[in-house]
Amino acid sequence: MTMTTAIMMTTIAIMTAIAITIITTIIATIAITAAKRSIPNKNQRQVTCSDGRLKVKESLSRKDIHQSMSLSICFTIIYRGHNIFCARFSQLRLERFKQKVKKRWDPMSTSQESKVVAYYEAAGTDYRRYWFSPANLAMHFGYYDSTVKSHGTSLLKMNEVLASFAAISPDDQVLDAGCGYGGSAIWLAKNRGCQVVGINLVPEQVSAARRFAKTSGVEDRVSFAEMNFTATTFPDESFDVVWALESLVHSDKKEAFFREAYRLLRGGGRLIIADYTLRESPALSSDQKTTLTPWLKGWALADLLATSEYIQALQASGFQKVETRDITEQIRPSVNWLGKLHLPTWPTADIVAAIGRVACRIGLYNDIRLHGIEAGICQNRALRAGLWRYTLLRVQK
Ligand SMILES: C[S@@+](CC[C@H](N)C(=O)[O-])C[C@H]1O[C@@H](n2cnc3c(N)ncnc32)[C@H](O)[C@@H]1O
Repeated sequence: MTMTTAIMMTTIAIMTAIAITIITTIIATIAITAAKRSIPNKNQRQVTCSDGRLKVKESLSRKDIHQSMSLSICFTIIYRGHNIFCARFSQLRLERFKQKVKKRWDPMSTSQESKVVAYYEAAGTDYRRYWFSPANLAMHFGYYDSTVKSHGTSLLKMNEVLASFAAISPDDQVLDAGCGYGGSAIWLAKNRGCQVVGINLVPEQVSAARRFAKTSGVEDRVSFAEMNFTATTFPDESFDVVWALESLVHSDKKEAFFREAYRLLRGGGRLIIADYTLRESPALSSDQKTTLTPWLKGWALADLLATSEYIQALQASGFQKVETRDITEQIRPSVNWLGKLHLPTWPTADIVAAIGRVACRIGLYNDIRLHGIEAGICQNRALRAGLWRYTLLRVQK
């Protein structure tokens, strides 16, 4: 919606509300006057006519006028509220119906990829509102050390830590596999001077990333494309670094991604992964794994692997020299920040989820967004229960 359309629509809405208030005030005034005629009224007074006769004259008191105005304002508010509610409700029902039809007729809509797209299309607003700012455009967790004092800095710090881990230099060509809104790709071009291509499944994120690259003045070094990182269209040996920051966890074809990354890297090239990993020892019981389900489903994550499973699969795809770093303690404050939705008390997210559940019931909120909030709560609890870790992996071709 353009700015002009928004202004026009707001003006029309305000004018309609004023018109309804005026009309209902007139109607209420007429009704009160009529009622007064039938009841003895304190506001009747006797006046002497020019011919000397006495005549009773009626007038409306200020109180009457106030009463009729309050009535009409109440009516307008109820009427407008009802209209807005009905419009929103029917829009949501229509969306649900469309999704049902899509599921029924399009077998792709149940694939992991389409779940990822549906999740990010629905939850994009929440990421923009509660997580990132135009200064970082980050959809990942923040890295905290003694130099980091704020949420925003922690998000940028994660880029810095990963870029050092990958030893990225200005000569490198980097593939950002699962680039979100392009935050890391833009940061790398600006701060490491390298060339970056970002790929992503979500069309809205790709077009926003292109816009952000333009406004950041790095469009000559960064480009974005809508593509699946498990099957890209780039020629063999196109990149020096493949960067997967909290993206691989979405995929149910991790082996296919490792093979693709191997094909795309030049000799000596590095694959960098930053992701959630299952606790290694003791391994999770099946009950403990089940407790992670709301998190995985809510954020459209395929599954979590233990670090040793990653290492095994990477070596099977031809990679050597696996290096790992556990940075769970450095991201813990960021996970807690999400749990609190940047308010100071712990149960905030639970309260928001409870309100969201009621709003969903009456059609005012979206199921996918609600499950996204519940996923965050589940993830936070699972971290406190020690069920998962956050691991950086670096391998070389
Ligand atoms: C949690 S976000 C992280 C985004 C970005 N790396 C960042 O740190 O800001 C995960 C991203 O991976 C993308 N993604 C998931 N599966 C993908 C796939 N198979 N191919 C390409 N992108 C994918 C999602 O669309 C989303 O943009």
